[in-house]
Amino acid sequence: MTTNRMAQPTRSLIAPAAPTDLPAVLALLSANGLPHDGLAEHFAAALVARDGDSVVGSAALELYGEAALLRSLAVAEGRRGQGLGRALITAALDLARAQRVRRVYLLTTTAQGYFPSFGFAPITRAEVEPVVQVSAEFTGACPASAAVFALRLDG
Ligand SMILES: CC(C)(COP(=O)(O)OP(=O)(O)OC[C@H]1O[C@@H](n2cnc3c(N)ncnc32)[C@H](O)[C@@H]1OP(=O)(O)O)[C@@H](O)C(=O)NCCC(=O)NCCS
Repeated sequence: MTTNRMAQPTRSLIAPAAPTDLPAVLALLSANGLPHDGLAEHFAAALVARDGDSVVGSAALELYGEAALLRSLAVAEGRRGQGLGRALITAALDLARAQRVRRVYLLTTTAQGYFPSFGFAPITRAEVEPVVQVSAEFTGACPASAAVFALRLDG
C-alpha cells in the first residue's frame, strides 16, 4: 500500500516549540516576509511542525488573558498543501482553549482567503480590544493595511 501524504493526519507532526527552535522559526518567518518582532517574548506559546530534525512550520499565540493574537503562521514552501497549516492552526486554537482564551485575532497581508474556513471573520482594526492592539505586531511590525480577523471560541 502506498502512503498518500495528503491523506495522512499531520497533527502528530505538531509540537510545542522548544526554546532551541527559535532560530529555525525566525528563519522560516524571514523566508516568508513575516515579522520577528515580539515573537521571542511569546515563544512559550509557539508550535512547530517537524520533519525529523527540521522545523517545516510554525504558529504562535500572543496570550493576553481572554484574548490572543495568532501569529507567525508559516509552512516551508516545499511542504505546503499537505494540511500542515490547518494542523498548526487547529493546534493553536486547542492551545488557546486550554488557556481559556475566548477571542483570537490575527493580522494578515497574504492569506485573507485562508482563515474564513477556520471560522475567522474580518473585522476592523478598531474592533480589536486594546490589550491586543498594543502588541508588537499591531504597533508596527504588521503594516496598517493588513487585514484583521477575529474568531470567538465561546460560540
Ligand atoms: C498560509 C500557509 C500557512 C498555508 O499552509 P499550508 O500547509 O499550505 O495549508 P494547508 O495545507 O492547511 O491548506 C492548503 C489550502 O489552503 C489554501 N491556501 C494556502 N495558502 C493560502 C493563502 N495565502 N490564501 C488563501 N488560501 C490559501 C490552498 O490553496 C489549499 O486549498 P485547497 O485545500 O482548497 O487546495 C502557507 O501557504 C504559508 O506559509 N504561506 C506563507 C506565509 C503566510 O502567508 N502566512 C500567513 C501569515 S498570517
